[in-house]
Amino acid sequence: MVYKINKYLNIYQWSFLLLTIISPLIVKCESDPDEFVPPLIYIQSRGYTGESHYITTDDGYILQVHRIISPKYLNLPRKAALLQHGLLLSGMVFIINSPGGGDYFHGPVENHDPVNHYRSRHPEIGNNLGFLLADHGYDVWLANSRGNTYSTNHTKLSPFQDKKYWEFSFDEMALYDLPAVISHIQYVTGQKEIAYIGHSQGTAIAFVLLSERPQYASILKPVILLAPIMNISTTKDALKHVLTDEELMKDLLKVGGPLLPHASLLELFPEVVCATKLLYICENVLQIMGGLNVAQLNVTRLPVYFSYIPAGTSAKNFVHYKQMVLKGARYFDHGPEKNMAMYGKSEPPEFHFDRLDTSNMVMFWSENDLFCGAEEMDAVRRTLRRPPMAEYRIPDPLWSHMDFLFGRQAGRFVNGPILGILKRYPISWLPGRGPQNHGSFSGHSNLPTPAHKPGQLINKPKYSRPYQPSLNG
Ligand SMILES: *[C@@H]1O[C@H](CO)[C@@H](O)[C@H](O)[C@H]1NC(C)=O
Ligand SMILES: *[C@@H]1O[C@H](CO)[C@@H](O)[C@H](O)[C@H]1NC(C)=O
Ligand SMILES: *[C@@H]1O[C@H](CO)[C@@H](O)[C@H](O)[C@H]1NC(C)=O
Repeated sequence: MVYKINKYLNIYQWSFLLLTIISPLIVKCESDPDEFVPPLIYIQSRGYTGESHYITTDDGYILQVHRIISPKYLNLPRKAALLQHGLLLSGMVFIINSPGGGDYFHGPVENHDPVNHYRSRHPEIGNNLGFLLADHGYDVWLANSRGNTYSTNHTKLSPFQDKKYWEFSFDEMALYDLPAVISHIQYVTGQKEIAYIGHSQGTAIAFVLLSERPQYASILKPVILLAPIMNISTTKDALKHVLTDEELMKDLLKVGGPLLPHASLLELFPEVVCATKLLYICENVLQIMGGLNVAQLNVTRLPVYFSYIPAGTSAKNFVHYKQMVLKGARYFDHGPEKNMAMYGKSEPPEFHFDRLDTSNMVMFWSENDLFCGAEEMDAVRRTLRRPPMAEYRIPDPLWSHMDFLFGRQAGRFVNGPILGILKRYPISWLPGRGPQNHGSFSGHSNLPTPAHKPGQLINKPKYSRPYQPSLNG
């Protein structure tokens, strides 16, 4: 009997080993063709023209930005739209929600059943904001903040050797990355004004830039904010708990460098974890990222989402969120000595969100969002001097933080209304630039020097003052 059990155990052990070895291969065979696709190939696979631009910031970080153009509009003027992702995400989140491309008004809207939408077999419409905007004639730019999968390079530092590379938080994304990307888009398209659409951290960095350098209010028009993050000291306890976990933060600071980078554990994560009935792990990650509404989630597509997220950031960026929870909305606290050198006082200065020009701001928010629910929106309204131009509360009471990107009805509740807002903002050309040189690489444009090709490093004019948060007021 004992012998038999031993034998069985051995068989179990063997089959377990065997399964462990071959299961990634089995799952790989069944994996979704949309998993792990490089951005340009993904964009082109939907029939769009894709370009990759490398942009160097004033402090030497090399960012990669992806551009989407619909072939229908290749030789027509297209209003520039900048899409800015949130924490641990990448520009890909704006194009991977559903299979296919823009698909707006292509499917019969009548078939849509808003009550039983999660049971509906009809594909949802307009769920991929990047493609949807391209379909409607916009010049779409998907930004990637420093330190994520696509923007991990520097003119002098080596990201995986120099810890110094990872010495940044969203302060730098606001004051170095955004100005560099904005100026590059202006230079390539010849347009003065750019439509800005940000999600989560993408709203926070817009707030920081626009309050610190008010001149950007005449460039970013409109500013569309999905789940605006302004002051997370009011954020729900559950999230606070994670963000203020001392052990976790100590570990993070010890790591110092990349946090949840794409290449390492995530390479295994989607196929092995998501696709093998351990979906709840993926769902929990989405939960931590600000909430999840299972009714809005296409669970079958989780492996696709998790082949692109989390897309990495610096540990220091996370620590900044912890500081925001404990000490309010301020610049990064480097400790008294370095604060003195950087800011001229021992405490980091507060953000001056009360200075924001809200005349072209539109905010989308939802009740069930852990980062930006009704309470947080009250705090946002108290902080702002004037109310935003418009506010949309998502009608689904369970709508949450990640649903703005991955909700089955993102097309209906978010992306459709965004199109409506954008239509009110025509193209505005820079002096000396106009409809003839709208900057596609079709060979048709009359761009001034240098003549650049997709994927090439483009030298552009200087765009911004050095990092100098103002201390008065
Ligand atoms: C990083 O940037 C440098 C300088 O522009 C370039 O030579 C190098 O090929 C880049 N490395 C990667 C991995 O893109
Ligand atoms: C859900 O995701 C799967 C896998 O990518 C896809 O085949 C399916 O069409 C998606 N369903 C909807 C309604 O978008
Ligand atoms: C953030 O919220 C806290 C608590 O409600 C408040 O004391 C603080 O003044 C707020 N900070 C800003 C910059 O709005």
